[in-house]
Amino acid sequence: MSKRWYSEHRSDPWRRKAKQEGYRARSAFKLKEIQEKFAPIRYGDTVLDVGCAPGGWSQVACELVGNEGIVVGVDLQTTSPIEGAYFIVGDIQDEVTQDSTREAFQGRVINTIISDISPDISGRYDIDQAISIDLVTMVCDFSIPLLNPGGAFITKVFQGPGLDALVRALKRRFSKVHRFSPISSRNASSEIYLVCKNLKPHHGALVQSVGDEILNSLAKDGIVDNSEEDEIITKTGFSVHRRK
Ligand SMILES: C[S@@+](CC[C@H](N)C(=O)[O-])C[C@H]1O[C@@H](n2cnc3c(N)ncnc32)[C@H](O)[C@@H]1O
Repeated sequence: MSKRWYSEHRSDPWRRKAKQEGYRARSAFKLKEIQEKFAPIRYGDTVLDVGCAPGGWSQVACELVGNEGIVVGVDLQTTSPIEGAYFIVGDIQDEVTQDSTREAFQGRVINTIISDISPDISGRYDIDQAISIDLVTMVCDFSIPLLNPGGAFITKVFQGPGLDALVRALKRRFSKVHRFSPISSRNASSEIYLVCKNLKPHHGALVQSVGDEILNSLAKDGIVDNSEEDEIITKTGFSVHRRK
């Protein structure tokens, strides 16, 4: 553990505040800020939390939805139990995990999707950023079709190539798309949150997936070469493989 890591963590006021208030992660305050400004979660809502471990956002979501609501969280890691939440361990990119996630809602429509999904940080920003866009794209294409018209979608994403195309793709699906940087994000952080409200009823009629829209935009900008049949050749580390 480096001295820098140690002093950053020890002096982090949000980490201390999280501990004092019983939240598992400092990120809980980012969702609280988003809620204060945009109010995407309502009492009684059914919420999907993607990339939920250790559970800070699920704690906040459970407080907001109350006894009438339900929160389903998915993560590669195990999340310790929270009253009012149901957790699935798995990779959201896997079909088995996606099936378990759909089944966990037992036919209830989803009102709000919250996703703080983040890759394992490699330290090479171009690669981490490309994986972040890829993960978010995949979360969009899996989860937005499960969302009730009028519903909200919140996601973290690292700023860089593909972000503008992602925002454009989301604007085709939601009436309002805001870019938001919570004050509780680390100063040096390049993360941003997209807060999308009011899913349009006709979104299912869009021909291209979010992934294809982003890929075509990156190809147009010369950032990826998608001319090959089965493989995307990347210049930045964007890791999408063509879905056949
Ligand atoms: C920043 S943390 C989330 C923190 C959480 N919002 C909280 O408040 O406790 C990002 C999470 O995304 C998860 N993640 C990354 N890739 C994933 C994937 N493919 N499927 C499921 N979860 C994933 C990581 O395991 C990690 O726990």
